[in-house]
Amino acid sequence: MNNTKRLVAIGGWPRASASYAQRMPREPPPSVQEILGARTGEEMALNDRHLNPQMGRIVRTLGFDKVWTGGDGAHLIDSDGERYLDLFGGYGVFAIGRNHPAVIEALEQVMAARTGNLPQLGVTLLSGVLAEQLLARAPGSVAAMVPANTGTEAVEAAIKIARAATGRARVLYAEHAFHGLTLGSLSLNGGVEFREGFGPLLPGCDAVGFGDLDALERELSHGDVAAFIVEPIQGKGVNLPPADYLAQAQRLCREAGTLFVCDEVQTGIARTGRFLALEHWGLEPDMVCVAKALSGGFVPIGAVLVSRAAFDSVFDGMERAVRHGSTFGGNDLAAAAALATLRVIDQEDLVARAERMGALLMELTEPLVERFEVVRDVRGMGLMWAIEFGPPAGASARRLWERVERRQPGLFSQLVTVPLFHEHRIFCQVAGHHMNVIKALPALTIEESEIRRFASALGETIAAAERYPAALARFGLRTGLRAVRVGR
Ligand SMILES: Cc1ncc(COP(=O)(O)O)c(C=O)c1O
Repeated sequence: MNNTKRLVAIGGWPRASASYAQRMPREPPPSVQEILGARTGEEMALNDRHLNPQMGRIVRTLGFDKVWTGGDGAHLIDSDGERYLDLFGGYGVFAIGRNHPAVIEALEQVMAARTGNLPQLGVTLLSGVLAEQLLARAPGSVAAMVPANTGTEAVEAAIKIARAATGRARVLYAEHAFHGLTLGSLSLNGGVEFREGFGPLLPGCDAVGFGDLDALERELSHGDVAAFIVEPIQGKGVNLPPADYLAQAQRLCREAGTLFVCDEVQTGIARTGRFLALEHWGLEPDMVCVAKALSGGFVPIGAVLVSRAAFDSVFDGMERAVRHGSTFGGNDLAAAAALATLRVIDQEDLVARAERMGALLMELTEPLVERFEVVRDVRGMGLMWAIEFGPPAGASARRLWERVERRQPGLFSQLVTVPLFHEHRIFCQVAGHHMNVIKALPALTIEESEIRRFASALGETIAAAERYPAALARFGLRTGLRAVRVGR
């Protein structure tokens, strides 16, 4: 399609269609109760008509097109009442489990209290207490909270604060990083599949290898870098840093007058067996971004924890008090959900539990590297876990692998995730584009028996995929699994 035709196809004048008056619904929307009662089962049709039909194609291709009618702890429940172990965890938001009653109660309490939410020219109690609680759990290097509504918004705030605080424009990020999909965060995104077509992105954003201190030092030596923003463990692929990397990166940043920023949107809030993953390395960053699991999976939330120096140099006078913010940032529902989530984490000892269950998962799955030629690595920290596949050693098996992977990179992983779903009711996916890595971010409340069930189902499924690669590859090619890339 040439450009003119494409423009006509996507833009131009609306085609002859019903007038606004004709299109306007005659009835107000029914109540939630009525919708759940009368329209369950229409999800896919509604999605295909009004939301994202390509997502509909993906879930149908995989056979994942269930009607999800409930969520409970570590499980999703379909319309037949079948429970699926949810290793997606909503991209990591359900750390305390789905529909935790303590958060529901907190949300009900806020609504019952009819609070004076969002005065805007004013301040509120719940977000103040949330800031107090979060900062008490964070390293001493940060002293103020800037509220946001999502992870990407927290990263955007960090970029802006770093630029304003240092008077420098450049921002460094690590190759393969994922920091969100709005334009600023996208400029720090290590995946071409996300960036392509959206340029030009923010100028002055440059990648360095994750773990490459020399490259970082070289870039910092120009003296023009505002911040180095890094995930302690990269979500895409679950890449762990070399042992001393993050501490040394922090030191290099300090020496160069560059702000060191940890993006803990995915690794934070108990996920890795510490409240923040940065504790594993004793880091003291200038900023820490959190989001996702902070509100228990109920309410969009995000926050940047900022050093006093950086904060005060950005918000440095009354006329500059509102130079960054967001209408819903720090709202009462998000703050209440977050406070309840922190209570649950403390009361159920979820930091220690994540570490214990993560250790068990590693103990049960590490032997798969020895057991199967196709298993290259099993890695993780706490309950952020991944398994990586690679070509088998035998010449003919390797040829088949390469033929299939040439046409459909990452196919082998789908030959594991699809049977895990259909035969074992375990819901998981690849960890990113063009990679044979399956990832798990289960609820930190997951039962030991479910960890054991997952590990043994995984072994069984890989054995089958390895035994019948040709048949499975044909299955993959036929069903068009090449389209499926949904990891994060
Ligand atoms: C490390 C990291 N940063 C930022 C984001 C963006 O968060 P959100 O999707 O809430 O904008 C993500 C999302 O997956 C993430 O993993």
